[in-house]
Amino acid sequence: MLLRNKGGAMSLSSGHGVPAVTGGRAAGPGSVPGTGAAIEVVHLRKTYRATVAVDDVSFSVAEGEIFGILGPNGAGKTTTVECVIGLRNPDAGVIRVMGLDPHVDREDLHAIVGVQLQASVLPARLKVGEILDLFHSFYQHPAGLEEITDSLGLAEKKNGYYRSLSGGLKQRLSVALALIGNPKVAVLDEMTTGLDPQARRDTWQLIEGVRDRGVTIILVTHYMDEAERLCDRVALLDRGRIVAIDTPEGLADRAGVAKRVRFVPSKPFEDRLLSGLSEVRSVEHEGEHVIVTGSGELANVVILTLAAAGVTATDMHLDSANLEDAFVQMTGRHLHEDEIGRVHR
Ligand SMILES: Nc1ncnc2c1ncn2[C@@H]1O[C@H](COP(=O)(O)OP(=O)(O)O)[C@@H](O)[C@H]1O
Ligand SMILES: [Mg+2]
Repeated sequence: MLLRNKGGAMSLSSGHGVPAVTGGRAAGPGSVPGTGAAIEVVHLRKTYRATVAVDDVSFSVAEGEIFGILGPNGAGKTTTVECVIGLRNPDAGVIRVMGLDPHVDREDLHAIVGVQLQASVLPARLKVGEILDLFHSFYQHPAGLEEITDSLGLAEKKNGYYRSLSGGLKQRLSVALALIGNPKVAVLDEMTTGLDPQARRDTWQLIEGVRDRGVTIILVTHYMDEAERLCDRVALLDRGRIVAIDTPEGLADRAGVAKRVRFVPSKPFEDRLLSGLSEVRSVEHEGEHVIVTGSGELANVVILTLAAAGVTATDMHLDSANLEDAFVQMTGRHLHEDEIGRVHR
């Protein structure tokens, strides 16, 4: 795992300079044939007057999976999950959550789905403990209150008012509320938006803990690093339509961007030591740095080959294709285009 570019230790390629293919529509619906899917969405369509928010969206989520829905603001992510949990009635399409129709079986669904909604606002004048008690009382078979409170580090905050909580603690509380009913399915919409980097990483750990309990998770995000780190599979959503569904690695591979390893060798070596390797496409020099492009387990192979020749690679950086590259490749636009626009205005 040393060489995975998760967690910010390695430099990430920015996605710039990737040839843009506008309008590319890759794979079809990501059905999971033969497995007992926890969630199935087939040809979902939802409009708000003239706006087509979600257009012919299909996907299915296997039990125990973390399924990401990734896309820029306005892509239709929240609308999709609101339909999945029965908060909105689709114009067309079929949705099943653990066999239930969210619109018809709302009460049964409520018992098995935990939701952390983007817009959820809790009463500022209630204490944390009171909010937890209240939500706990909604469910017939809730999780242990103490266990949830302790595992989310909220025990010492029970007497604090909601309004006095930091952003990170508010998120912890919303995760607690999503889990307090002991759900089989959790829907988490933009959990880490607005959090500082440390709180984001803490939240990621929480989500991994939830997955380890066997809960099936739909994770909505517009952060590609979050999707890369947490999701088993990701649906890229753009302007209401699914562009592709695959594993984060599979999506990055489709972007077709070469991996690039950059390092300073401890002593000179012959280029052909590396250029002869099947993973290596090119070897270039830039001052004291060596830059190797290629594919596969490029960095591992370079390190091992050099080591065998008595050369140590220092100051190593790995760039590889990521979900942002994939998104740009498939839509011709950046995930955060609107935000970049705002910054420059
Ligand atoms: N209640 C609403 N009324 C009218 N338009 C809406 C409403 N909610 C969302 N939209 C529009 O639907 C589209 C998708 O929105 P949304 O599902 O919130 O996207 P996302 O969560 O990906 O940012 C956007 O164009 C948005 O402006
Ligand atoms: Mg949203």
